Amino acid sequence: MCGIVGCIGKINTKKYLIEGLKTLDYRGYDSAGIAYLNNNQVEICKTVGSVSLLEEKSPKEITSFIGIGHTRWATHGVPCDINSHPVQSMNKTITLVHNGVIENFMEIKKELMEKGYKFTSATDSEVIASLIEDTLKSGKSMLKTLQSVMKKLEGSFACSIIWEEDKKHLYLIKRSSPIMVGVGDGFNLVASDAVPIIEYTKKIIDLDDDQIAIISDKEVNLYDIHVRPVIIKYSDKEPSLLSRDLNGYPHFMLKEIEEIENVVRRLCLNFFNGEEFTFDPHLMKDLHAADNIIFIGCGTSYHASLVGARFFRKQEIDADVFIASEWAYYPQISGKNPFVILLSQSGETADLIHCMRIIKEKGIKTLVVTNTKGSTLERNADYSILLNAGLEVSVASTKAYSAQVAALALLTSALKDRKKVVVDLNEACKIISQIRVREKSRLQALANKLKDSEHLFFLGRGYDHDFCLEASLKLKEISYIHSEAIPGGELKHGPIALIAQDTPVIVFISDPNTASSMRNNIQEVKARGADVYVVATHSLSKEDDFIIIPDYPIYLSSIAIAPIAFYFAYYASLAKGYNVDKPRNLAKSVTVE
Ligand code: AGP
Repeated sequence: MCGIVGCIGKINTKKYLIEGLKTLDYRGYDSAGIAYLNNNQVEICKTVGSVSLLEEKSPKEITSFIGIGHTRWATHGVPCDINSHPVQSMNKTITLVHNGVIENFMEIKKELMEKGYKFTSATDSEVIASLIEDTLKSGKSMLKTLQSVMKKLEGSFACSIIWEEDKKHLYLIKRSSPIMVGVGDGFNLVASDAVPIIEYTKKIIDLDDDQIAIISDKEVNLYDIHVRPVIIKYSDKEPSLLSRDLNGYPHFMLKEIEEIENVVRRLCLNFFNGEEFTFDPHLMKDLHAADNIIFIGCGTSYHASLVGARFFRKQEIDADVFIASEWAYYPQISGKNPFVILLSQSGETADLIHCMRIIKEKGIKTLVVTNTKGSTLERNADYSILLNAGLEVSVASTKAYSAQVAALALLTSALKDRKKVVVDLNEACKIISQIRVREKSRLQALANKLKDSEHLFFLGRGYDHDFCLEASLKLKEISYIHSEAIPGGELKHGPIALIAQDTPVIVFISDPNTASSMRNNIQEVKARGADVYVVATHSLSKEDDFIIIPDYPIYLSSIAIAPIAFYFAYYASLAKGYNVDKPRNLAKSVTVE
């Protein structure tokens, strides 16, 4: 969603701000802006639209000691120049960029308006700027001011702040929204994500919640909410896993689909040393002791959780699965000794962070399965499993989904020392490579044929249905074709009413237990005129099936055949001329609730 950059000291300010914002653009945004010093005055340049537009609009060269920048994904107020960041306090003494949502901004705004403050934008961020300006009037230092402002603010924020009276420092405040500092030689950098920083320095400090940073060109000082100095610790970020290179691919999504095989193989090496599983023994002990596993996730990560829960149940361990934004308001915890597993590619999803707070209050142990080392969720969990899938840039998650499922397959197998999982995952990888070599062009042809469909349905049962949910999300997300995933047996309870002449239906059959029921379902939809495409495993296939793949261990459907749905969605989006990697209205990292 929104992205923040900032810099101070000996650095090409325009280059860092603009290039930095470009590296964050995969997170999704609708406007962008920068603030910098020109003859010691704070200048602001903003625009609705792309960072390239901002680059054109801003001066060719900016020689400034200090600068901040932002990409905004509208929450409070429509995307327009006024609502874009940086925003300023009424008297322009404070200029800031903000990620997050201030829940009590209307109350604060009202109080400030009673004191005579005027506001130009509809944003909650402008309220923070004027609140800082107003608090400074009492004569407090900036540090004490930020402390008092943070105590007043409810909600989430990461702010990078320039104060007119002290242009030798950048100020940061943080709660529930990521922000970090990159320590350079004669300069320091700020960003909401490590990607812009890593090109300049590996010395990165992740701020914790309720911390304040005061940054000069040579120093970084951190304070907690009680304004006590905090000892600085550097996070360990692996540059190769933050690479944003397309490596010759036309889109990140295609590149990321084709990385799945390697990602899965790497996970096997990371968690199995050839003789035994190498998961944290404390984690294994806690999982063995748990009588109920509660999975929580959003979107694709929720779909991977559904598969993970099946893995646990197969091992005779109870497991529930919840959507984070539901669980946060209606928490359900069963069992005498529950254990929570949160799945999140980004590790920054606000709905999950909300759940994490509740879980911590209840003292329940947590495991986070994430692709982002040092993310808020990773840092707050008792245990974490890192997917090491490399940066996933495309908004549509592909390799992270397969990696989540693979990691959970390894973890649950480790509970029973079932080493065959590694062989099974290798089998799944072979299927993936076969799909890449043999089926890609047929899937492109199918996508071209079906691209103008109004609706499309995916049918499957069991593991195949879990995967259909993901196939359907992927298609609607990037091709904007309405689609639904229907468990075969549910058709007759309602959804079959939607099947008409030529309605496209894609069916997955990989489970011998349900294959004949699925074949009956195919007859039912065909009788209503549906245009059916069957993907079946060899032993369950029929001659006229659309794609026949070798048999594989059925519990790995979400890995083995995932590329079929991913390629199909990719080519449908491409055929419709859409921006595959940045679909409308969506953001990569959903940092607001
Ligand atoms: C996936 O294609 C989506 N963009 C989306 O559903 C995503 O999985 C969801 O927002 C959760 O994100 P997370 O895994 O980073 O928590």
